[in-house]
Amino acid sequence: MAIRNIVKKGDEVLTKRCRPVEKFDAKLAALLDDMLQTMYKAEGVGLAAPQVGLLRRIAVIDITEEHNDPIELINPEIIKSSGRQREIEGCLSCPDQWGYVKRPMKVVCRAQDRKGDWYEYKAEGFLARAICHELDHLDGQLFVDKVDEFVRPEDME
Ligand code: NI
Repeated sequence: MAIRNIVKKGDEVLTKRCRPVEKFDAKLAALLDDMLQTMYKAEGVGLAAPQVGLLRRIAVIDITEEHNDPIELINPEIIKSSGRQREIEGCLSCPDQWGYVKRPMKVVCRAQDRKGDWYEYKAEGFLARAICHELDHLDGQLFVDKVDEFVRPEDME
């Protein structure tokens, strides 16, 4: 496993639409392992492939402090969403930027796992928000463009 470099805002790769994954091979498995390690090391709760420089529809999420509940989303889509929440978000590609974003409270996400099998994942609250944030990355969107009120880093302590 290897820690990958996290691309920061300003790099074009973060503004592009990602292509679907077609090959579910050892290379993909290694990439997923690297993405998880990179996310854990950076103390993030989500990481999308463009954030490591790859325009592929892949994201990993783990909102546990113990790093024991990794979610791997390949070619994900939100197939149902309901409710509304407005909470503070940040992003490993936008250091020291924080702000309120409106998201659905609940989502159902359909995605493939590392073997290529489709599954459905239901999430709400923080996890629903993380899924929406990561899926936006796959379409070249950053949370900072959806923020309705920025929060100063000193107020995040
Ligand atoms: Ni992000």
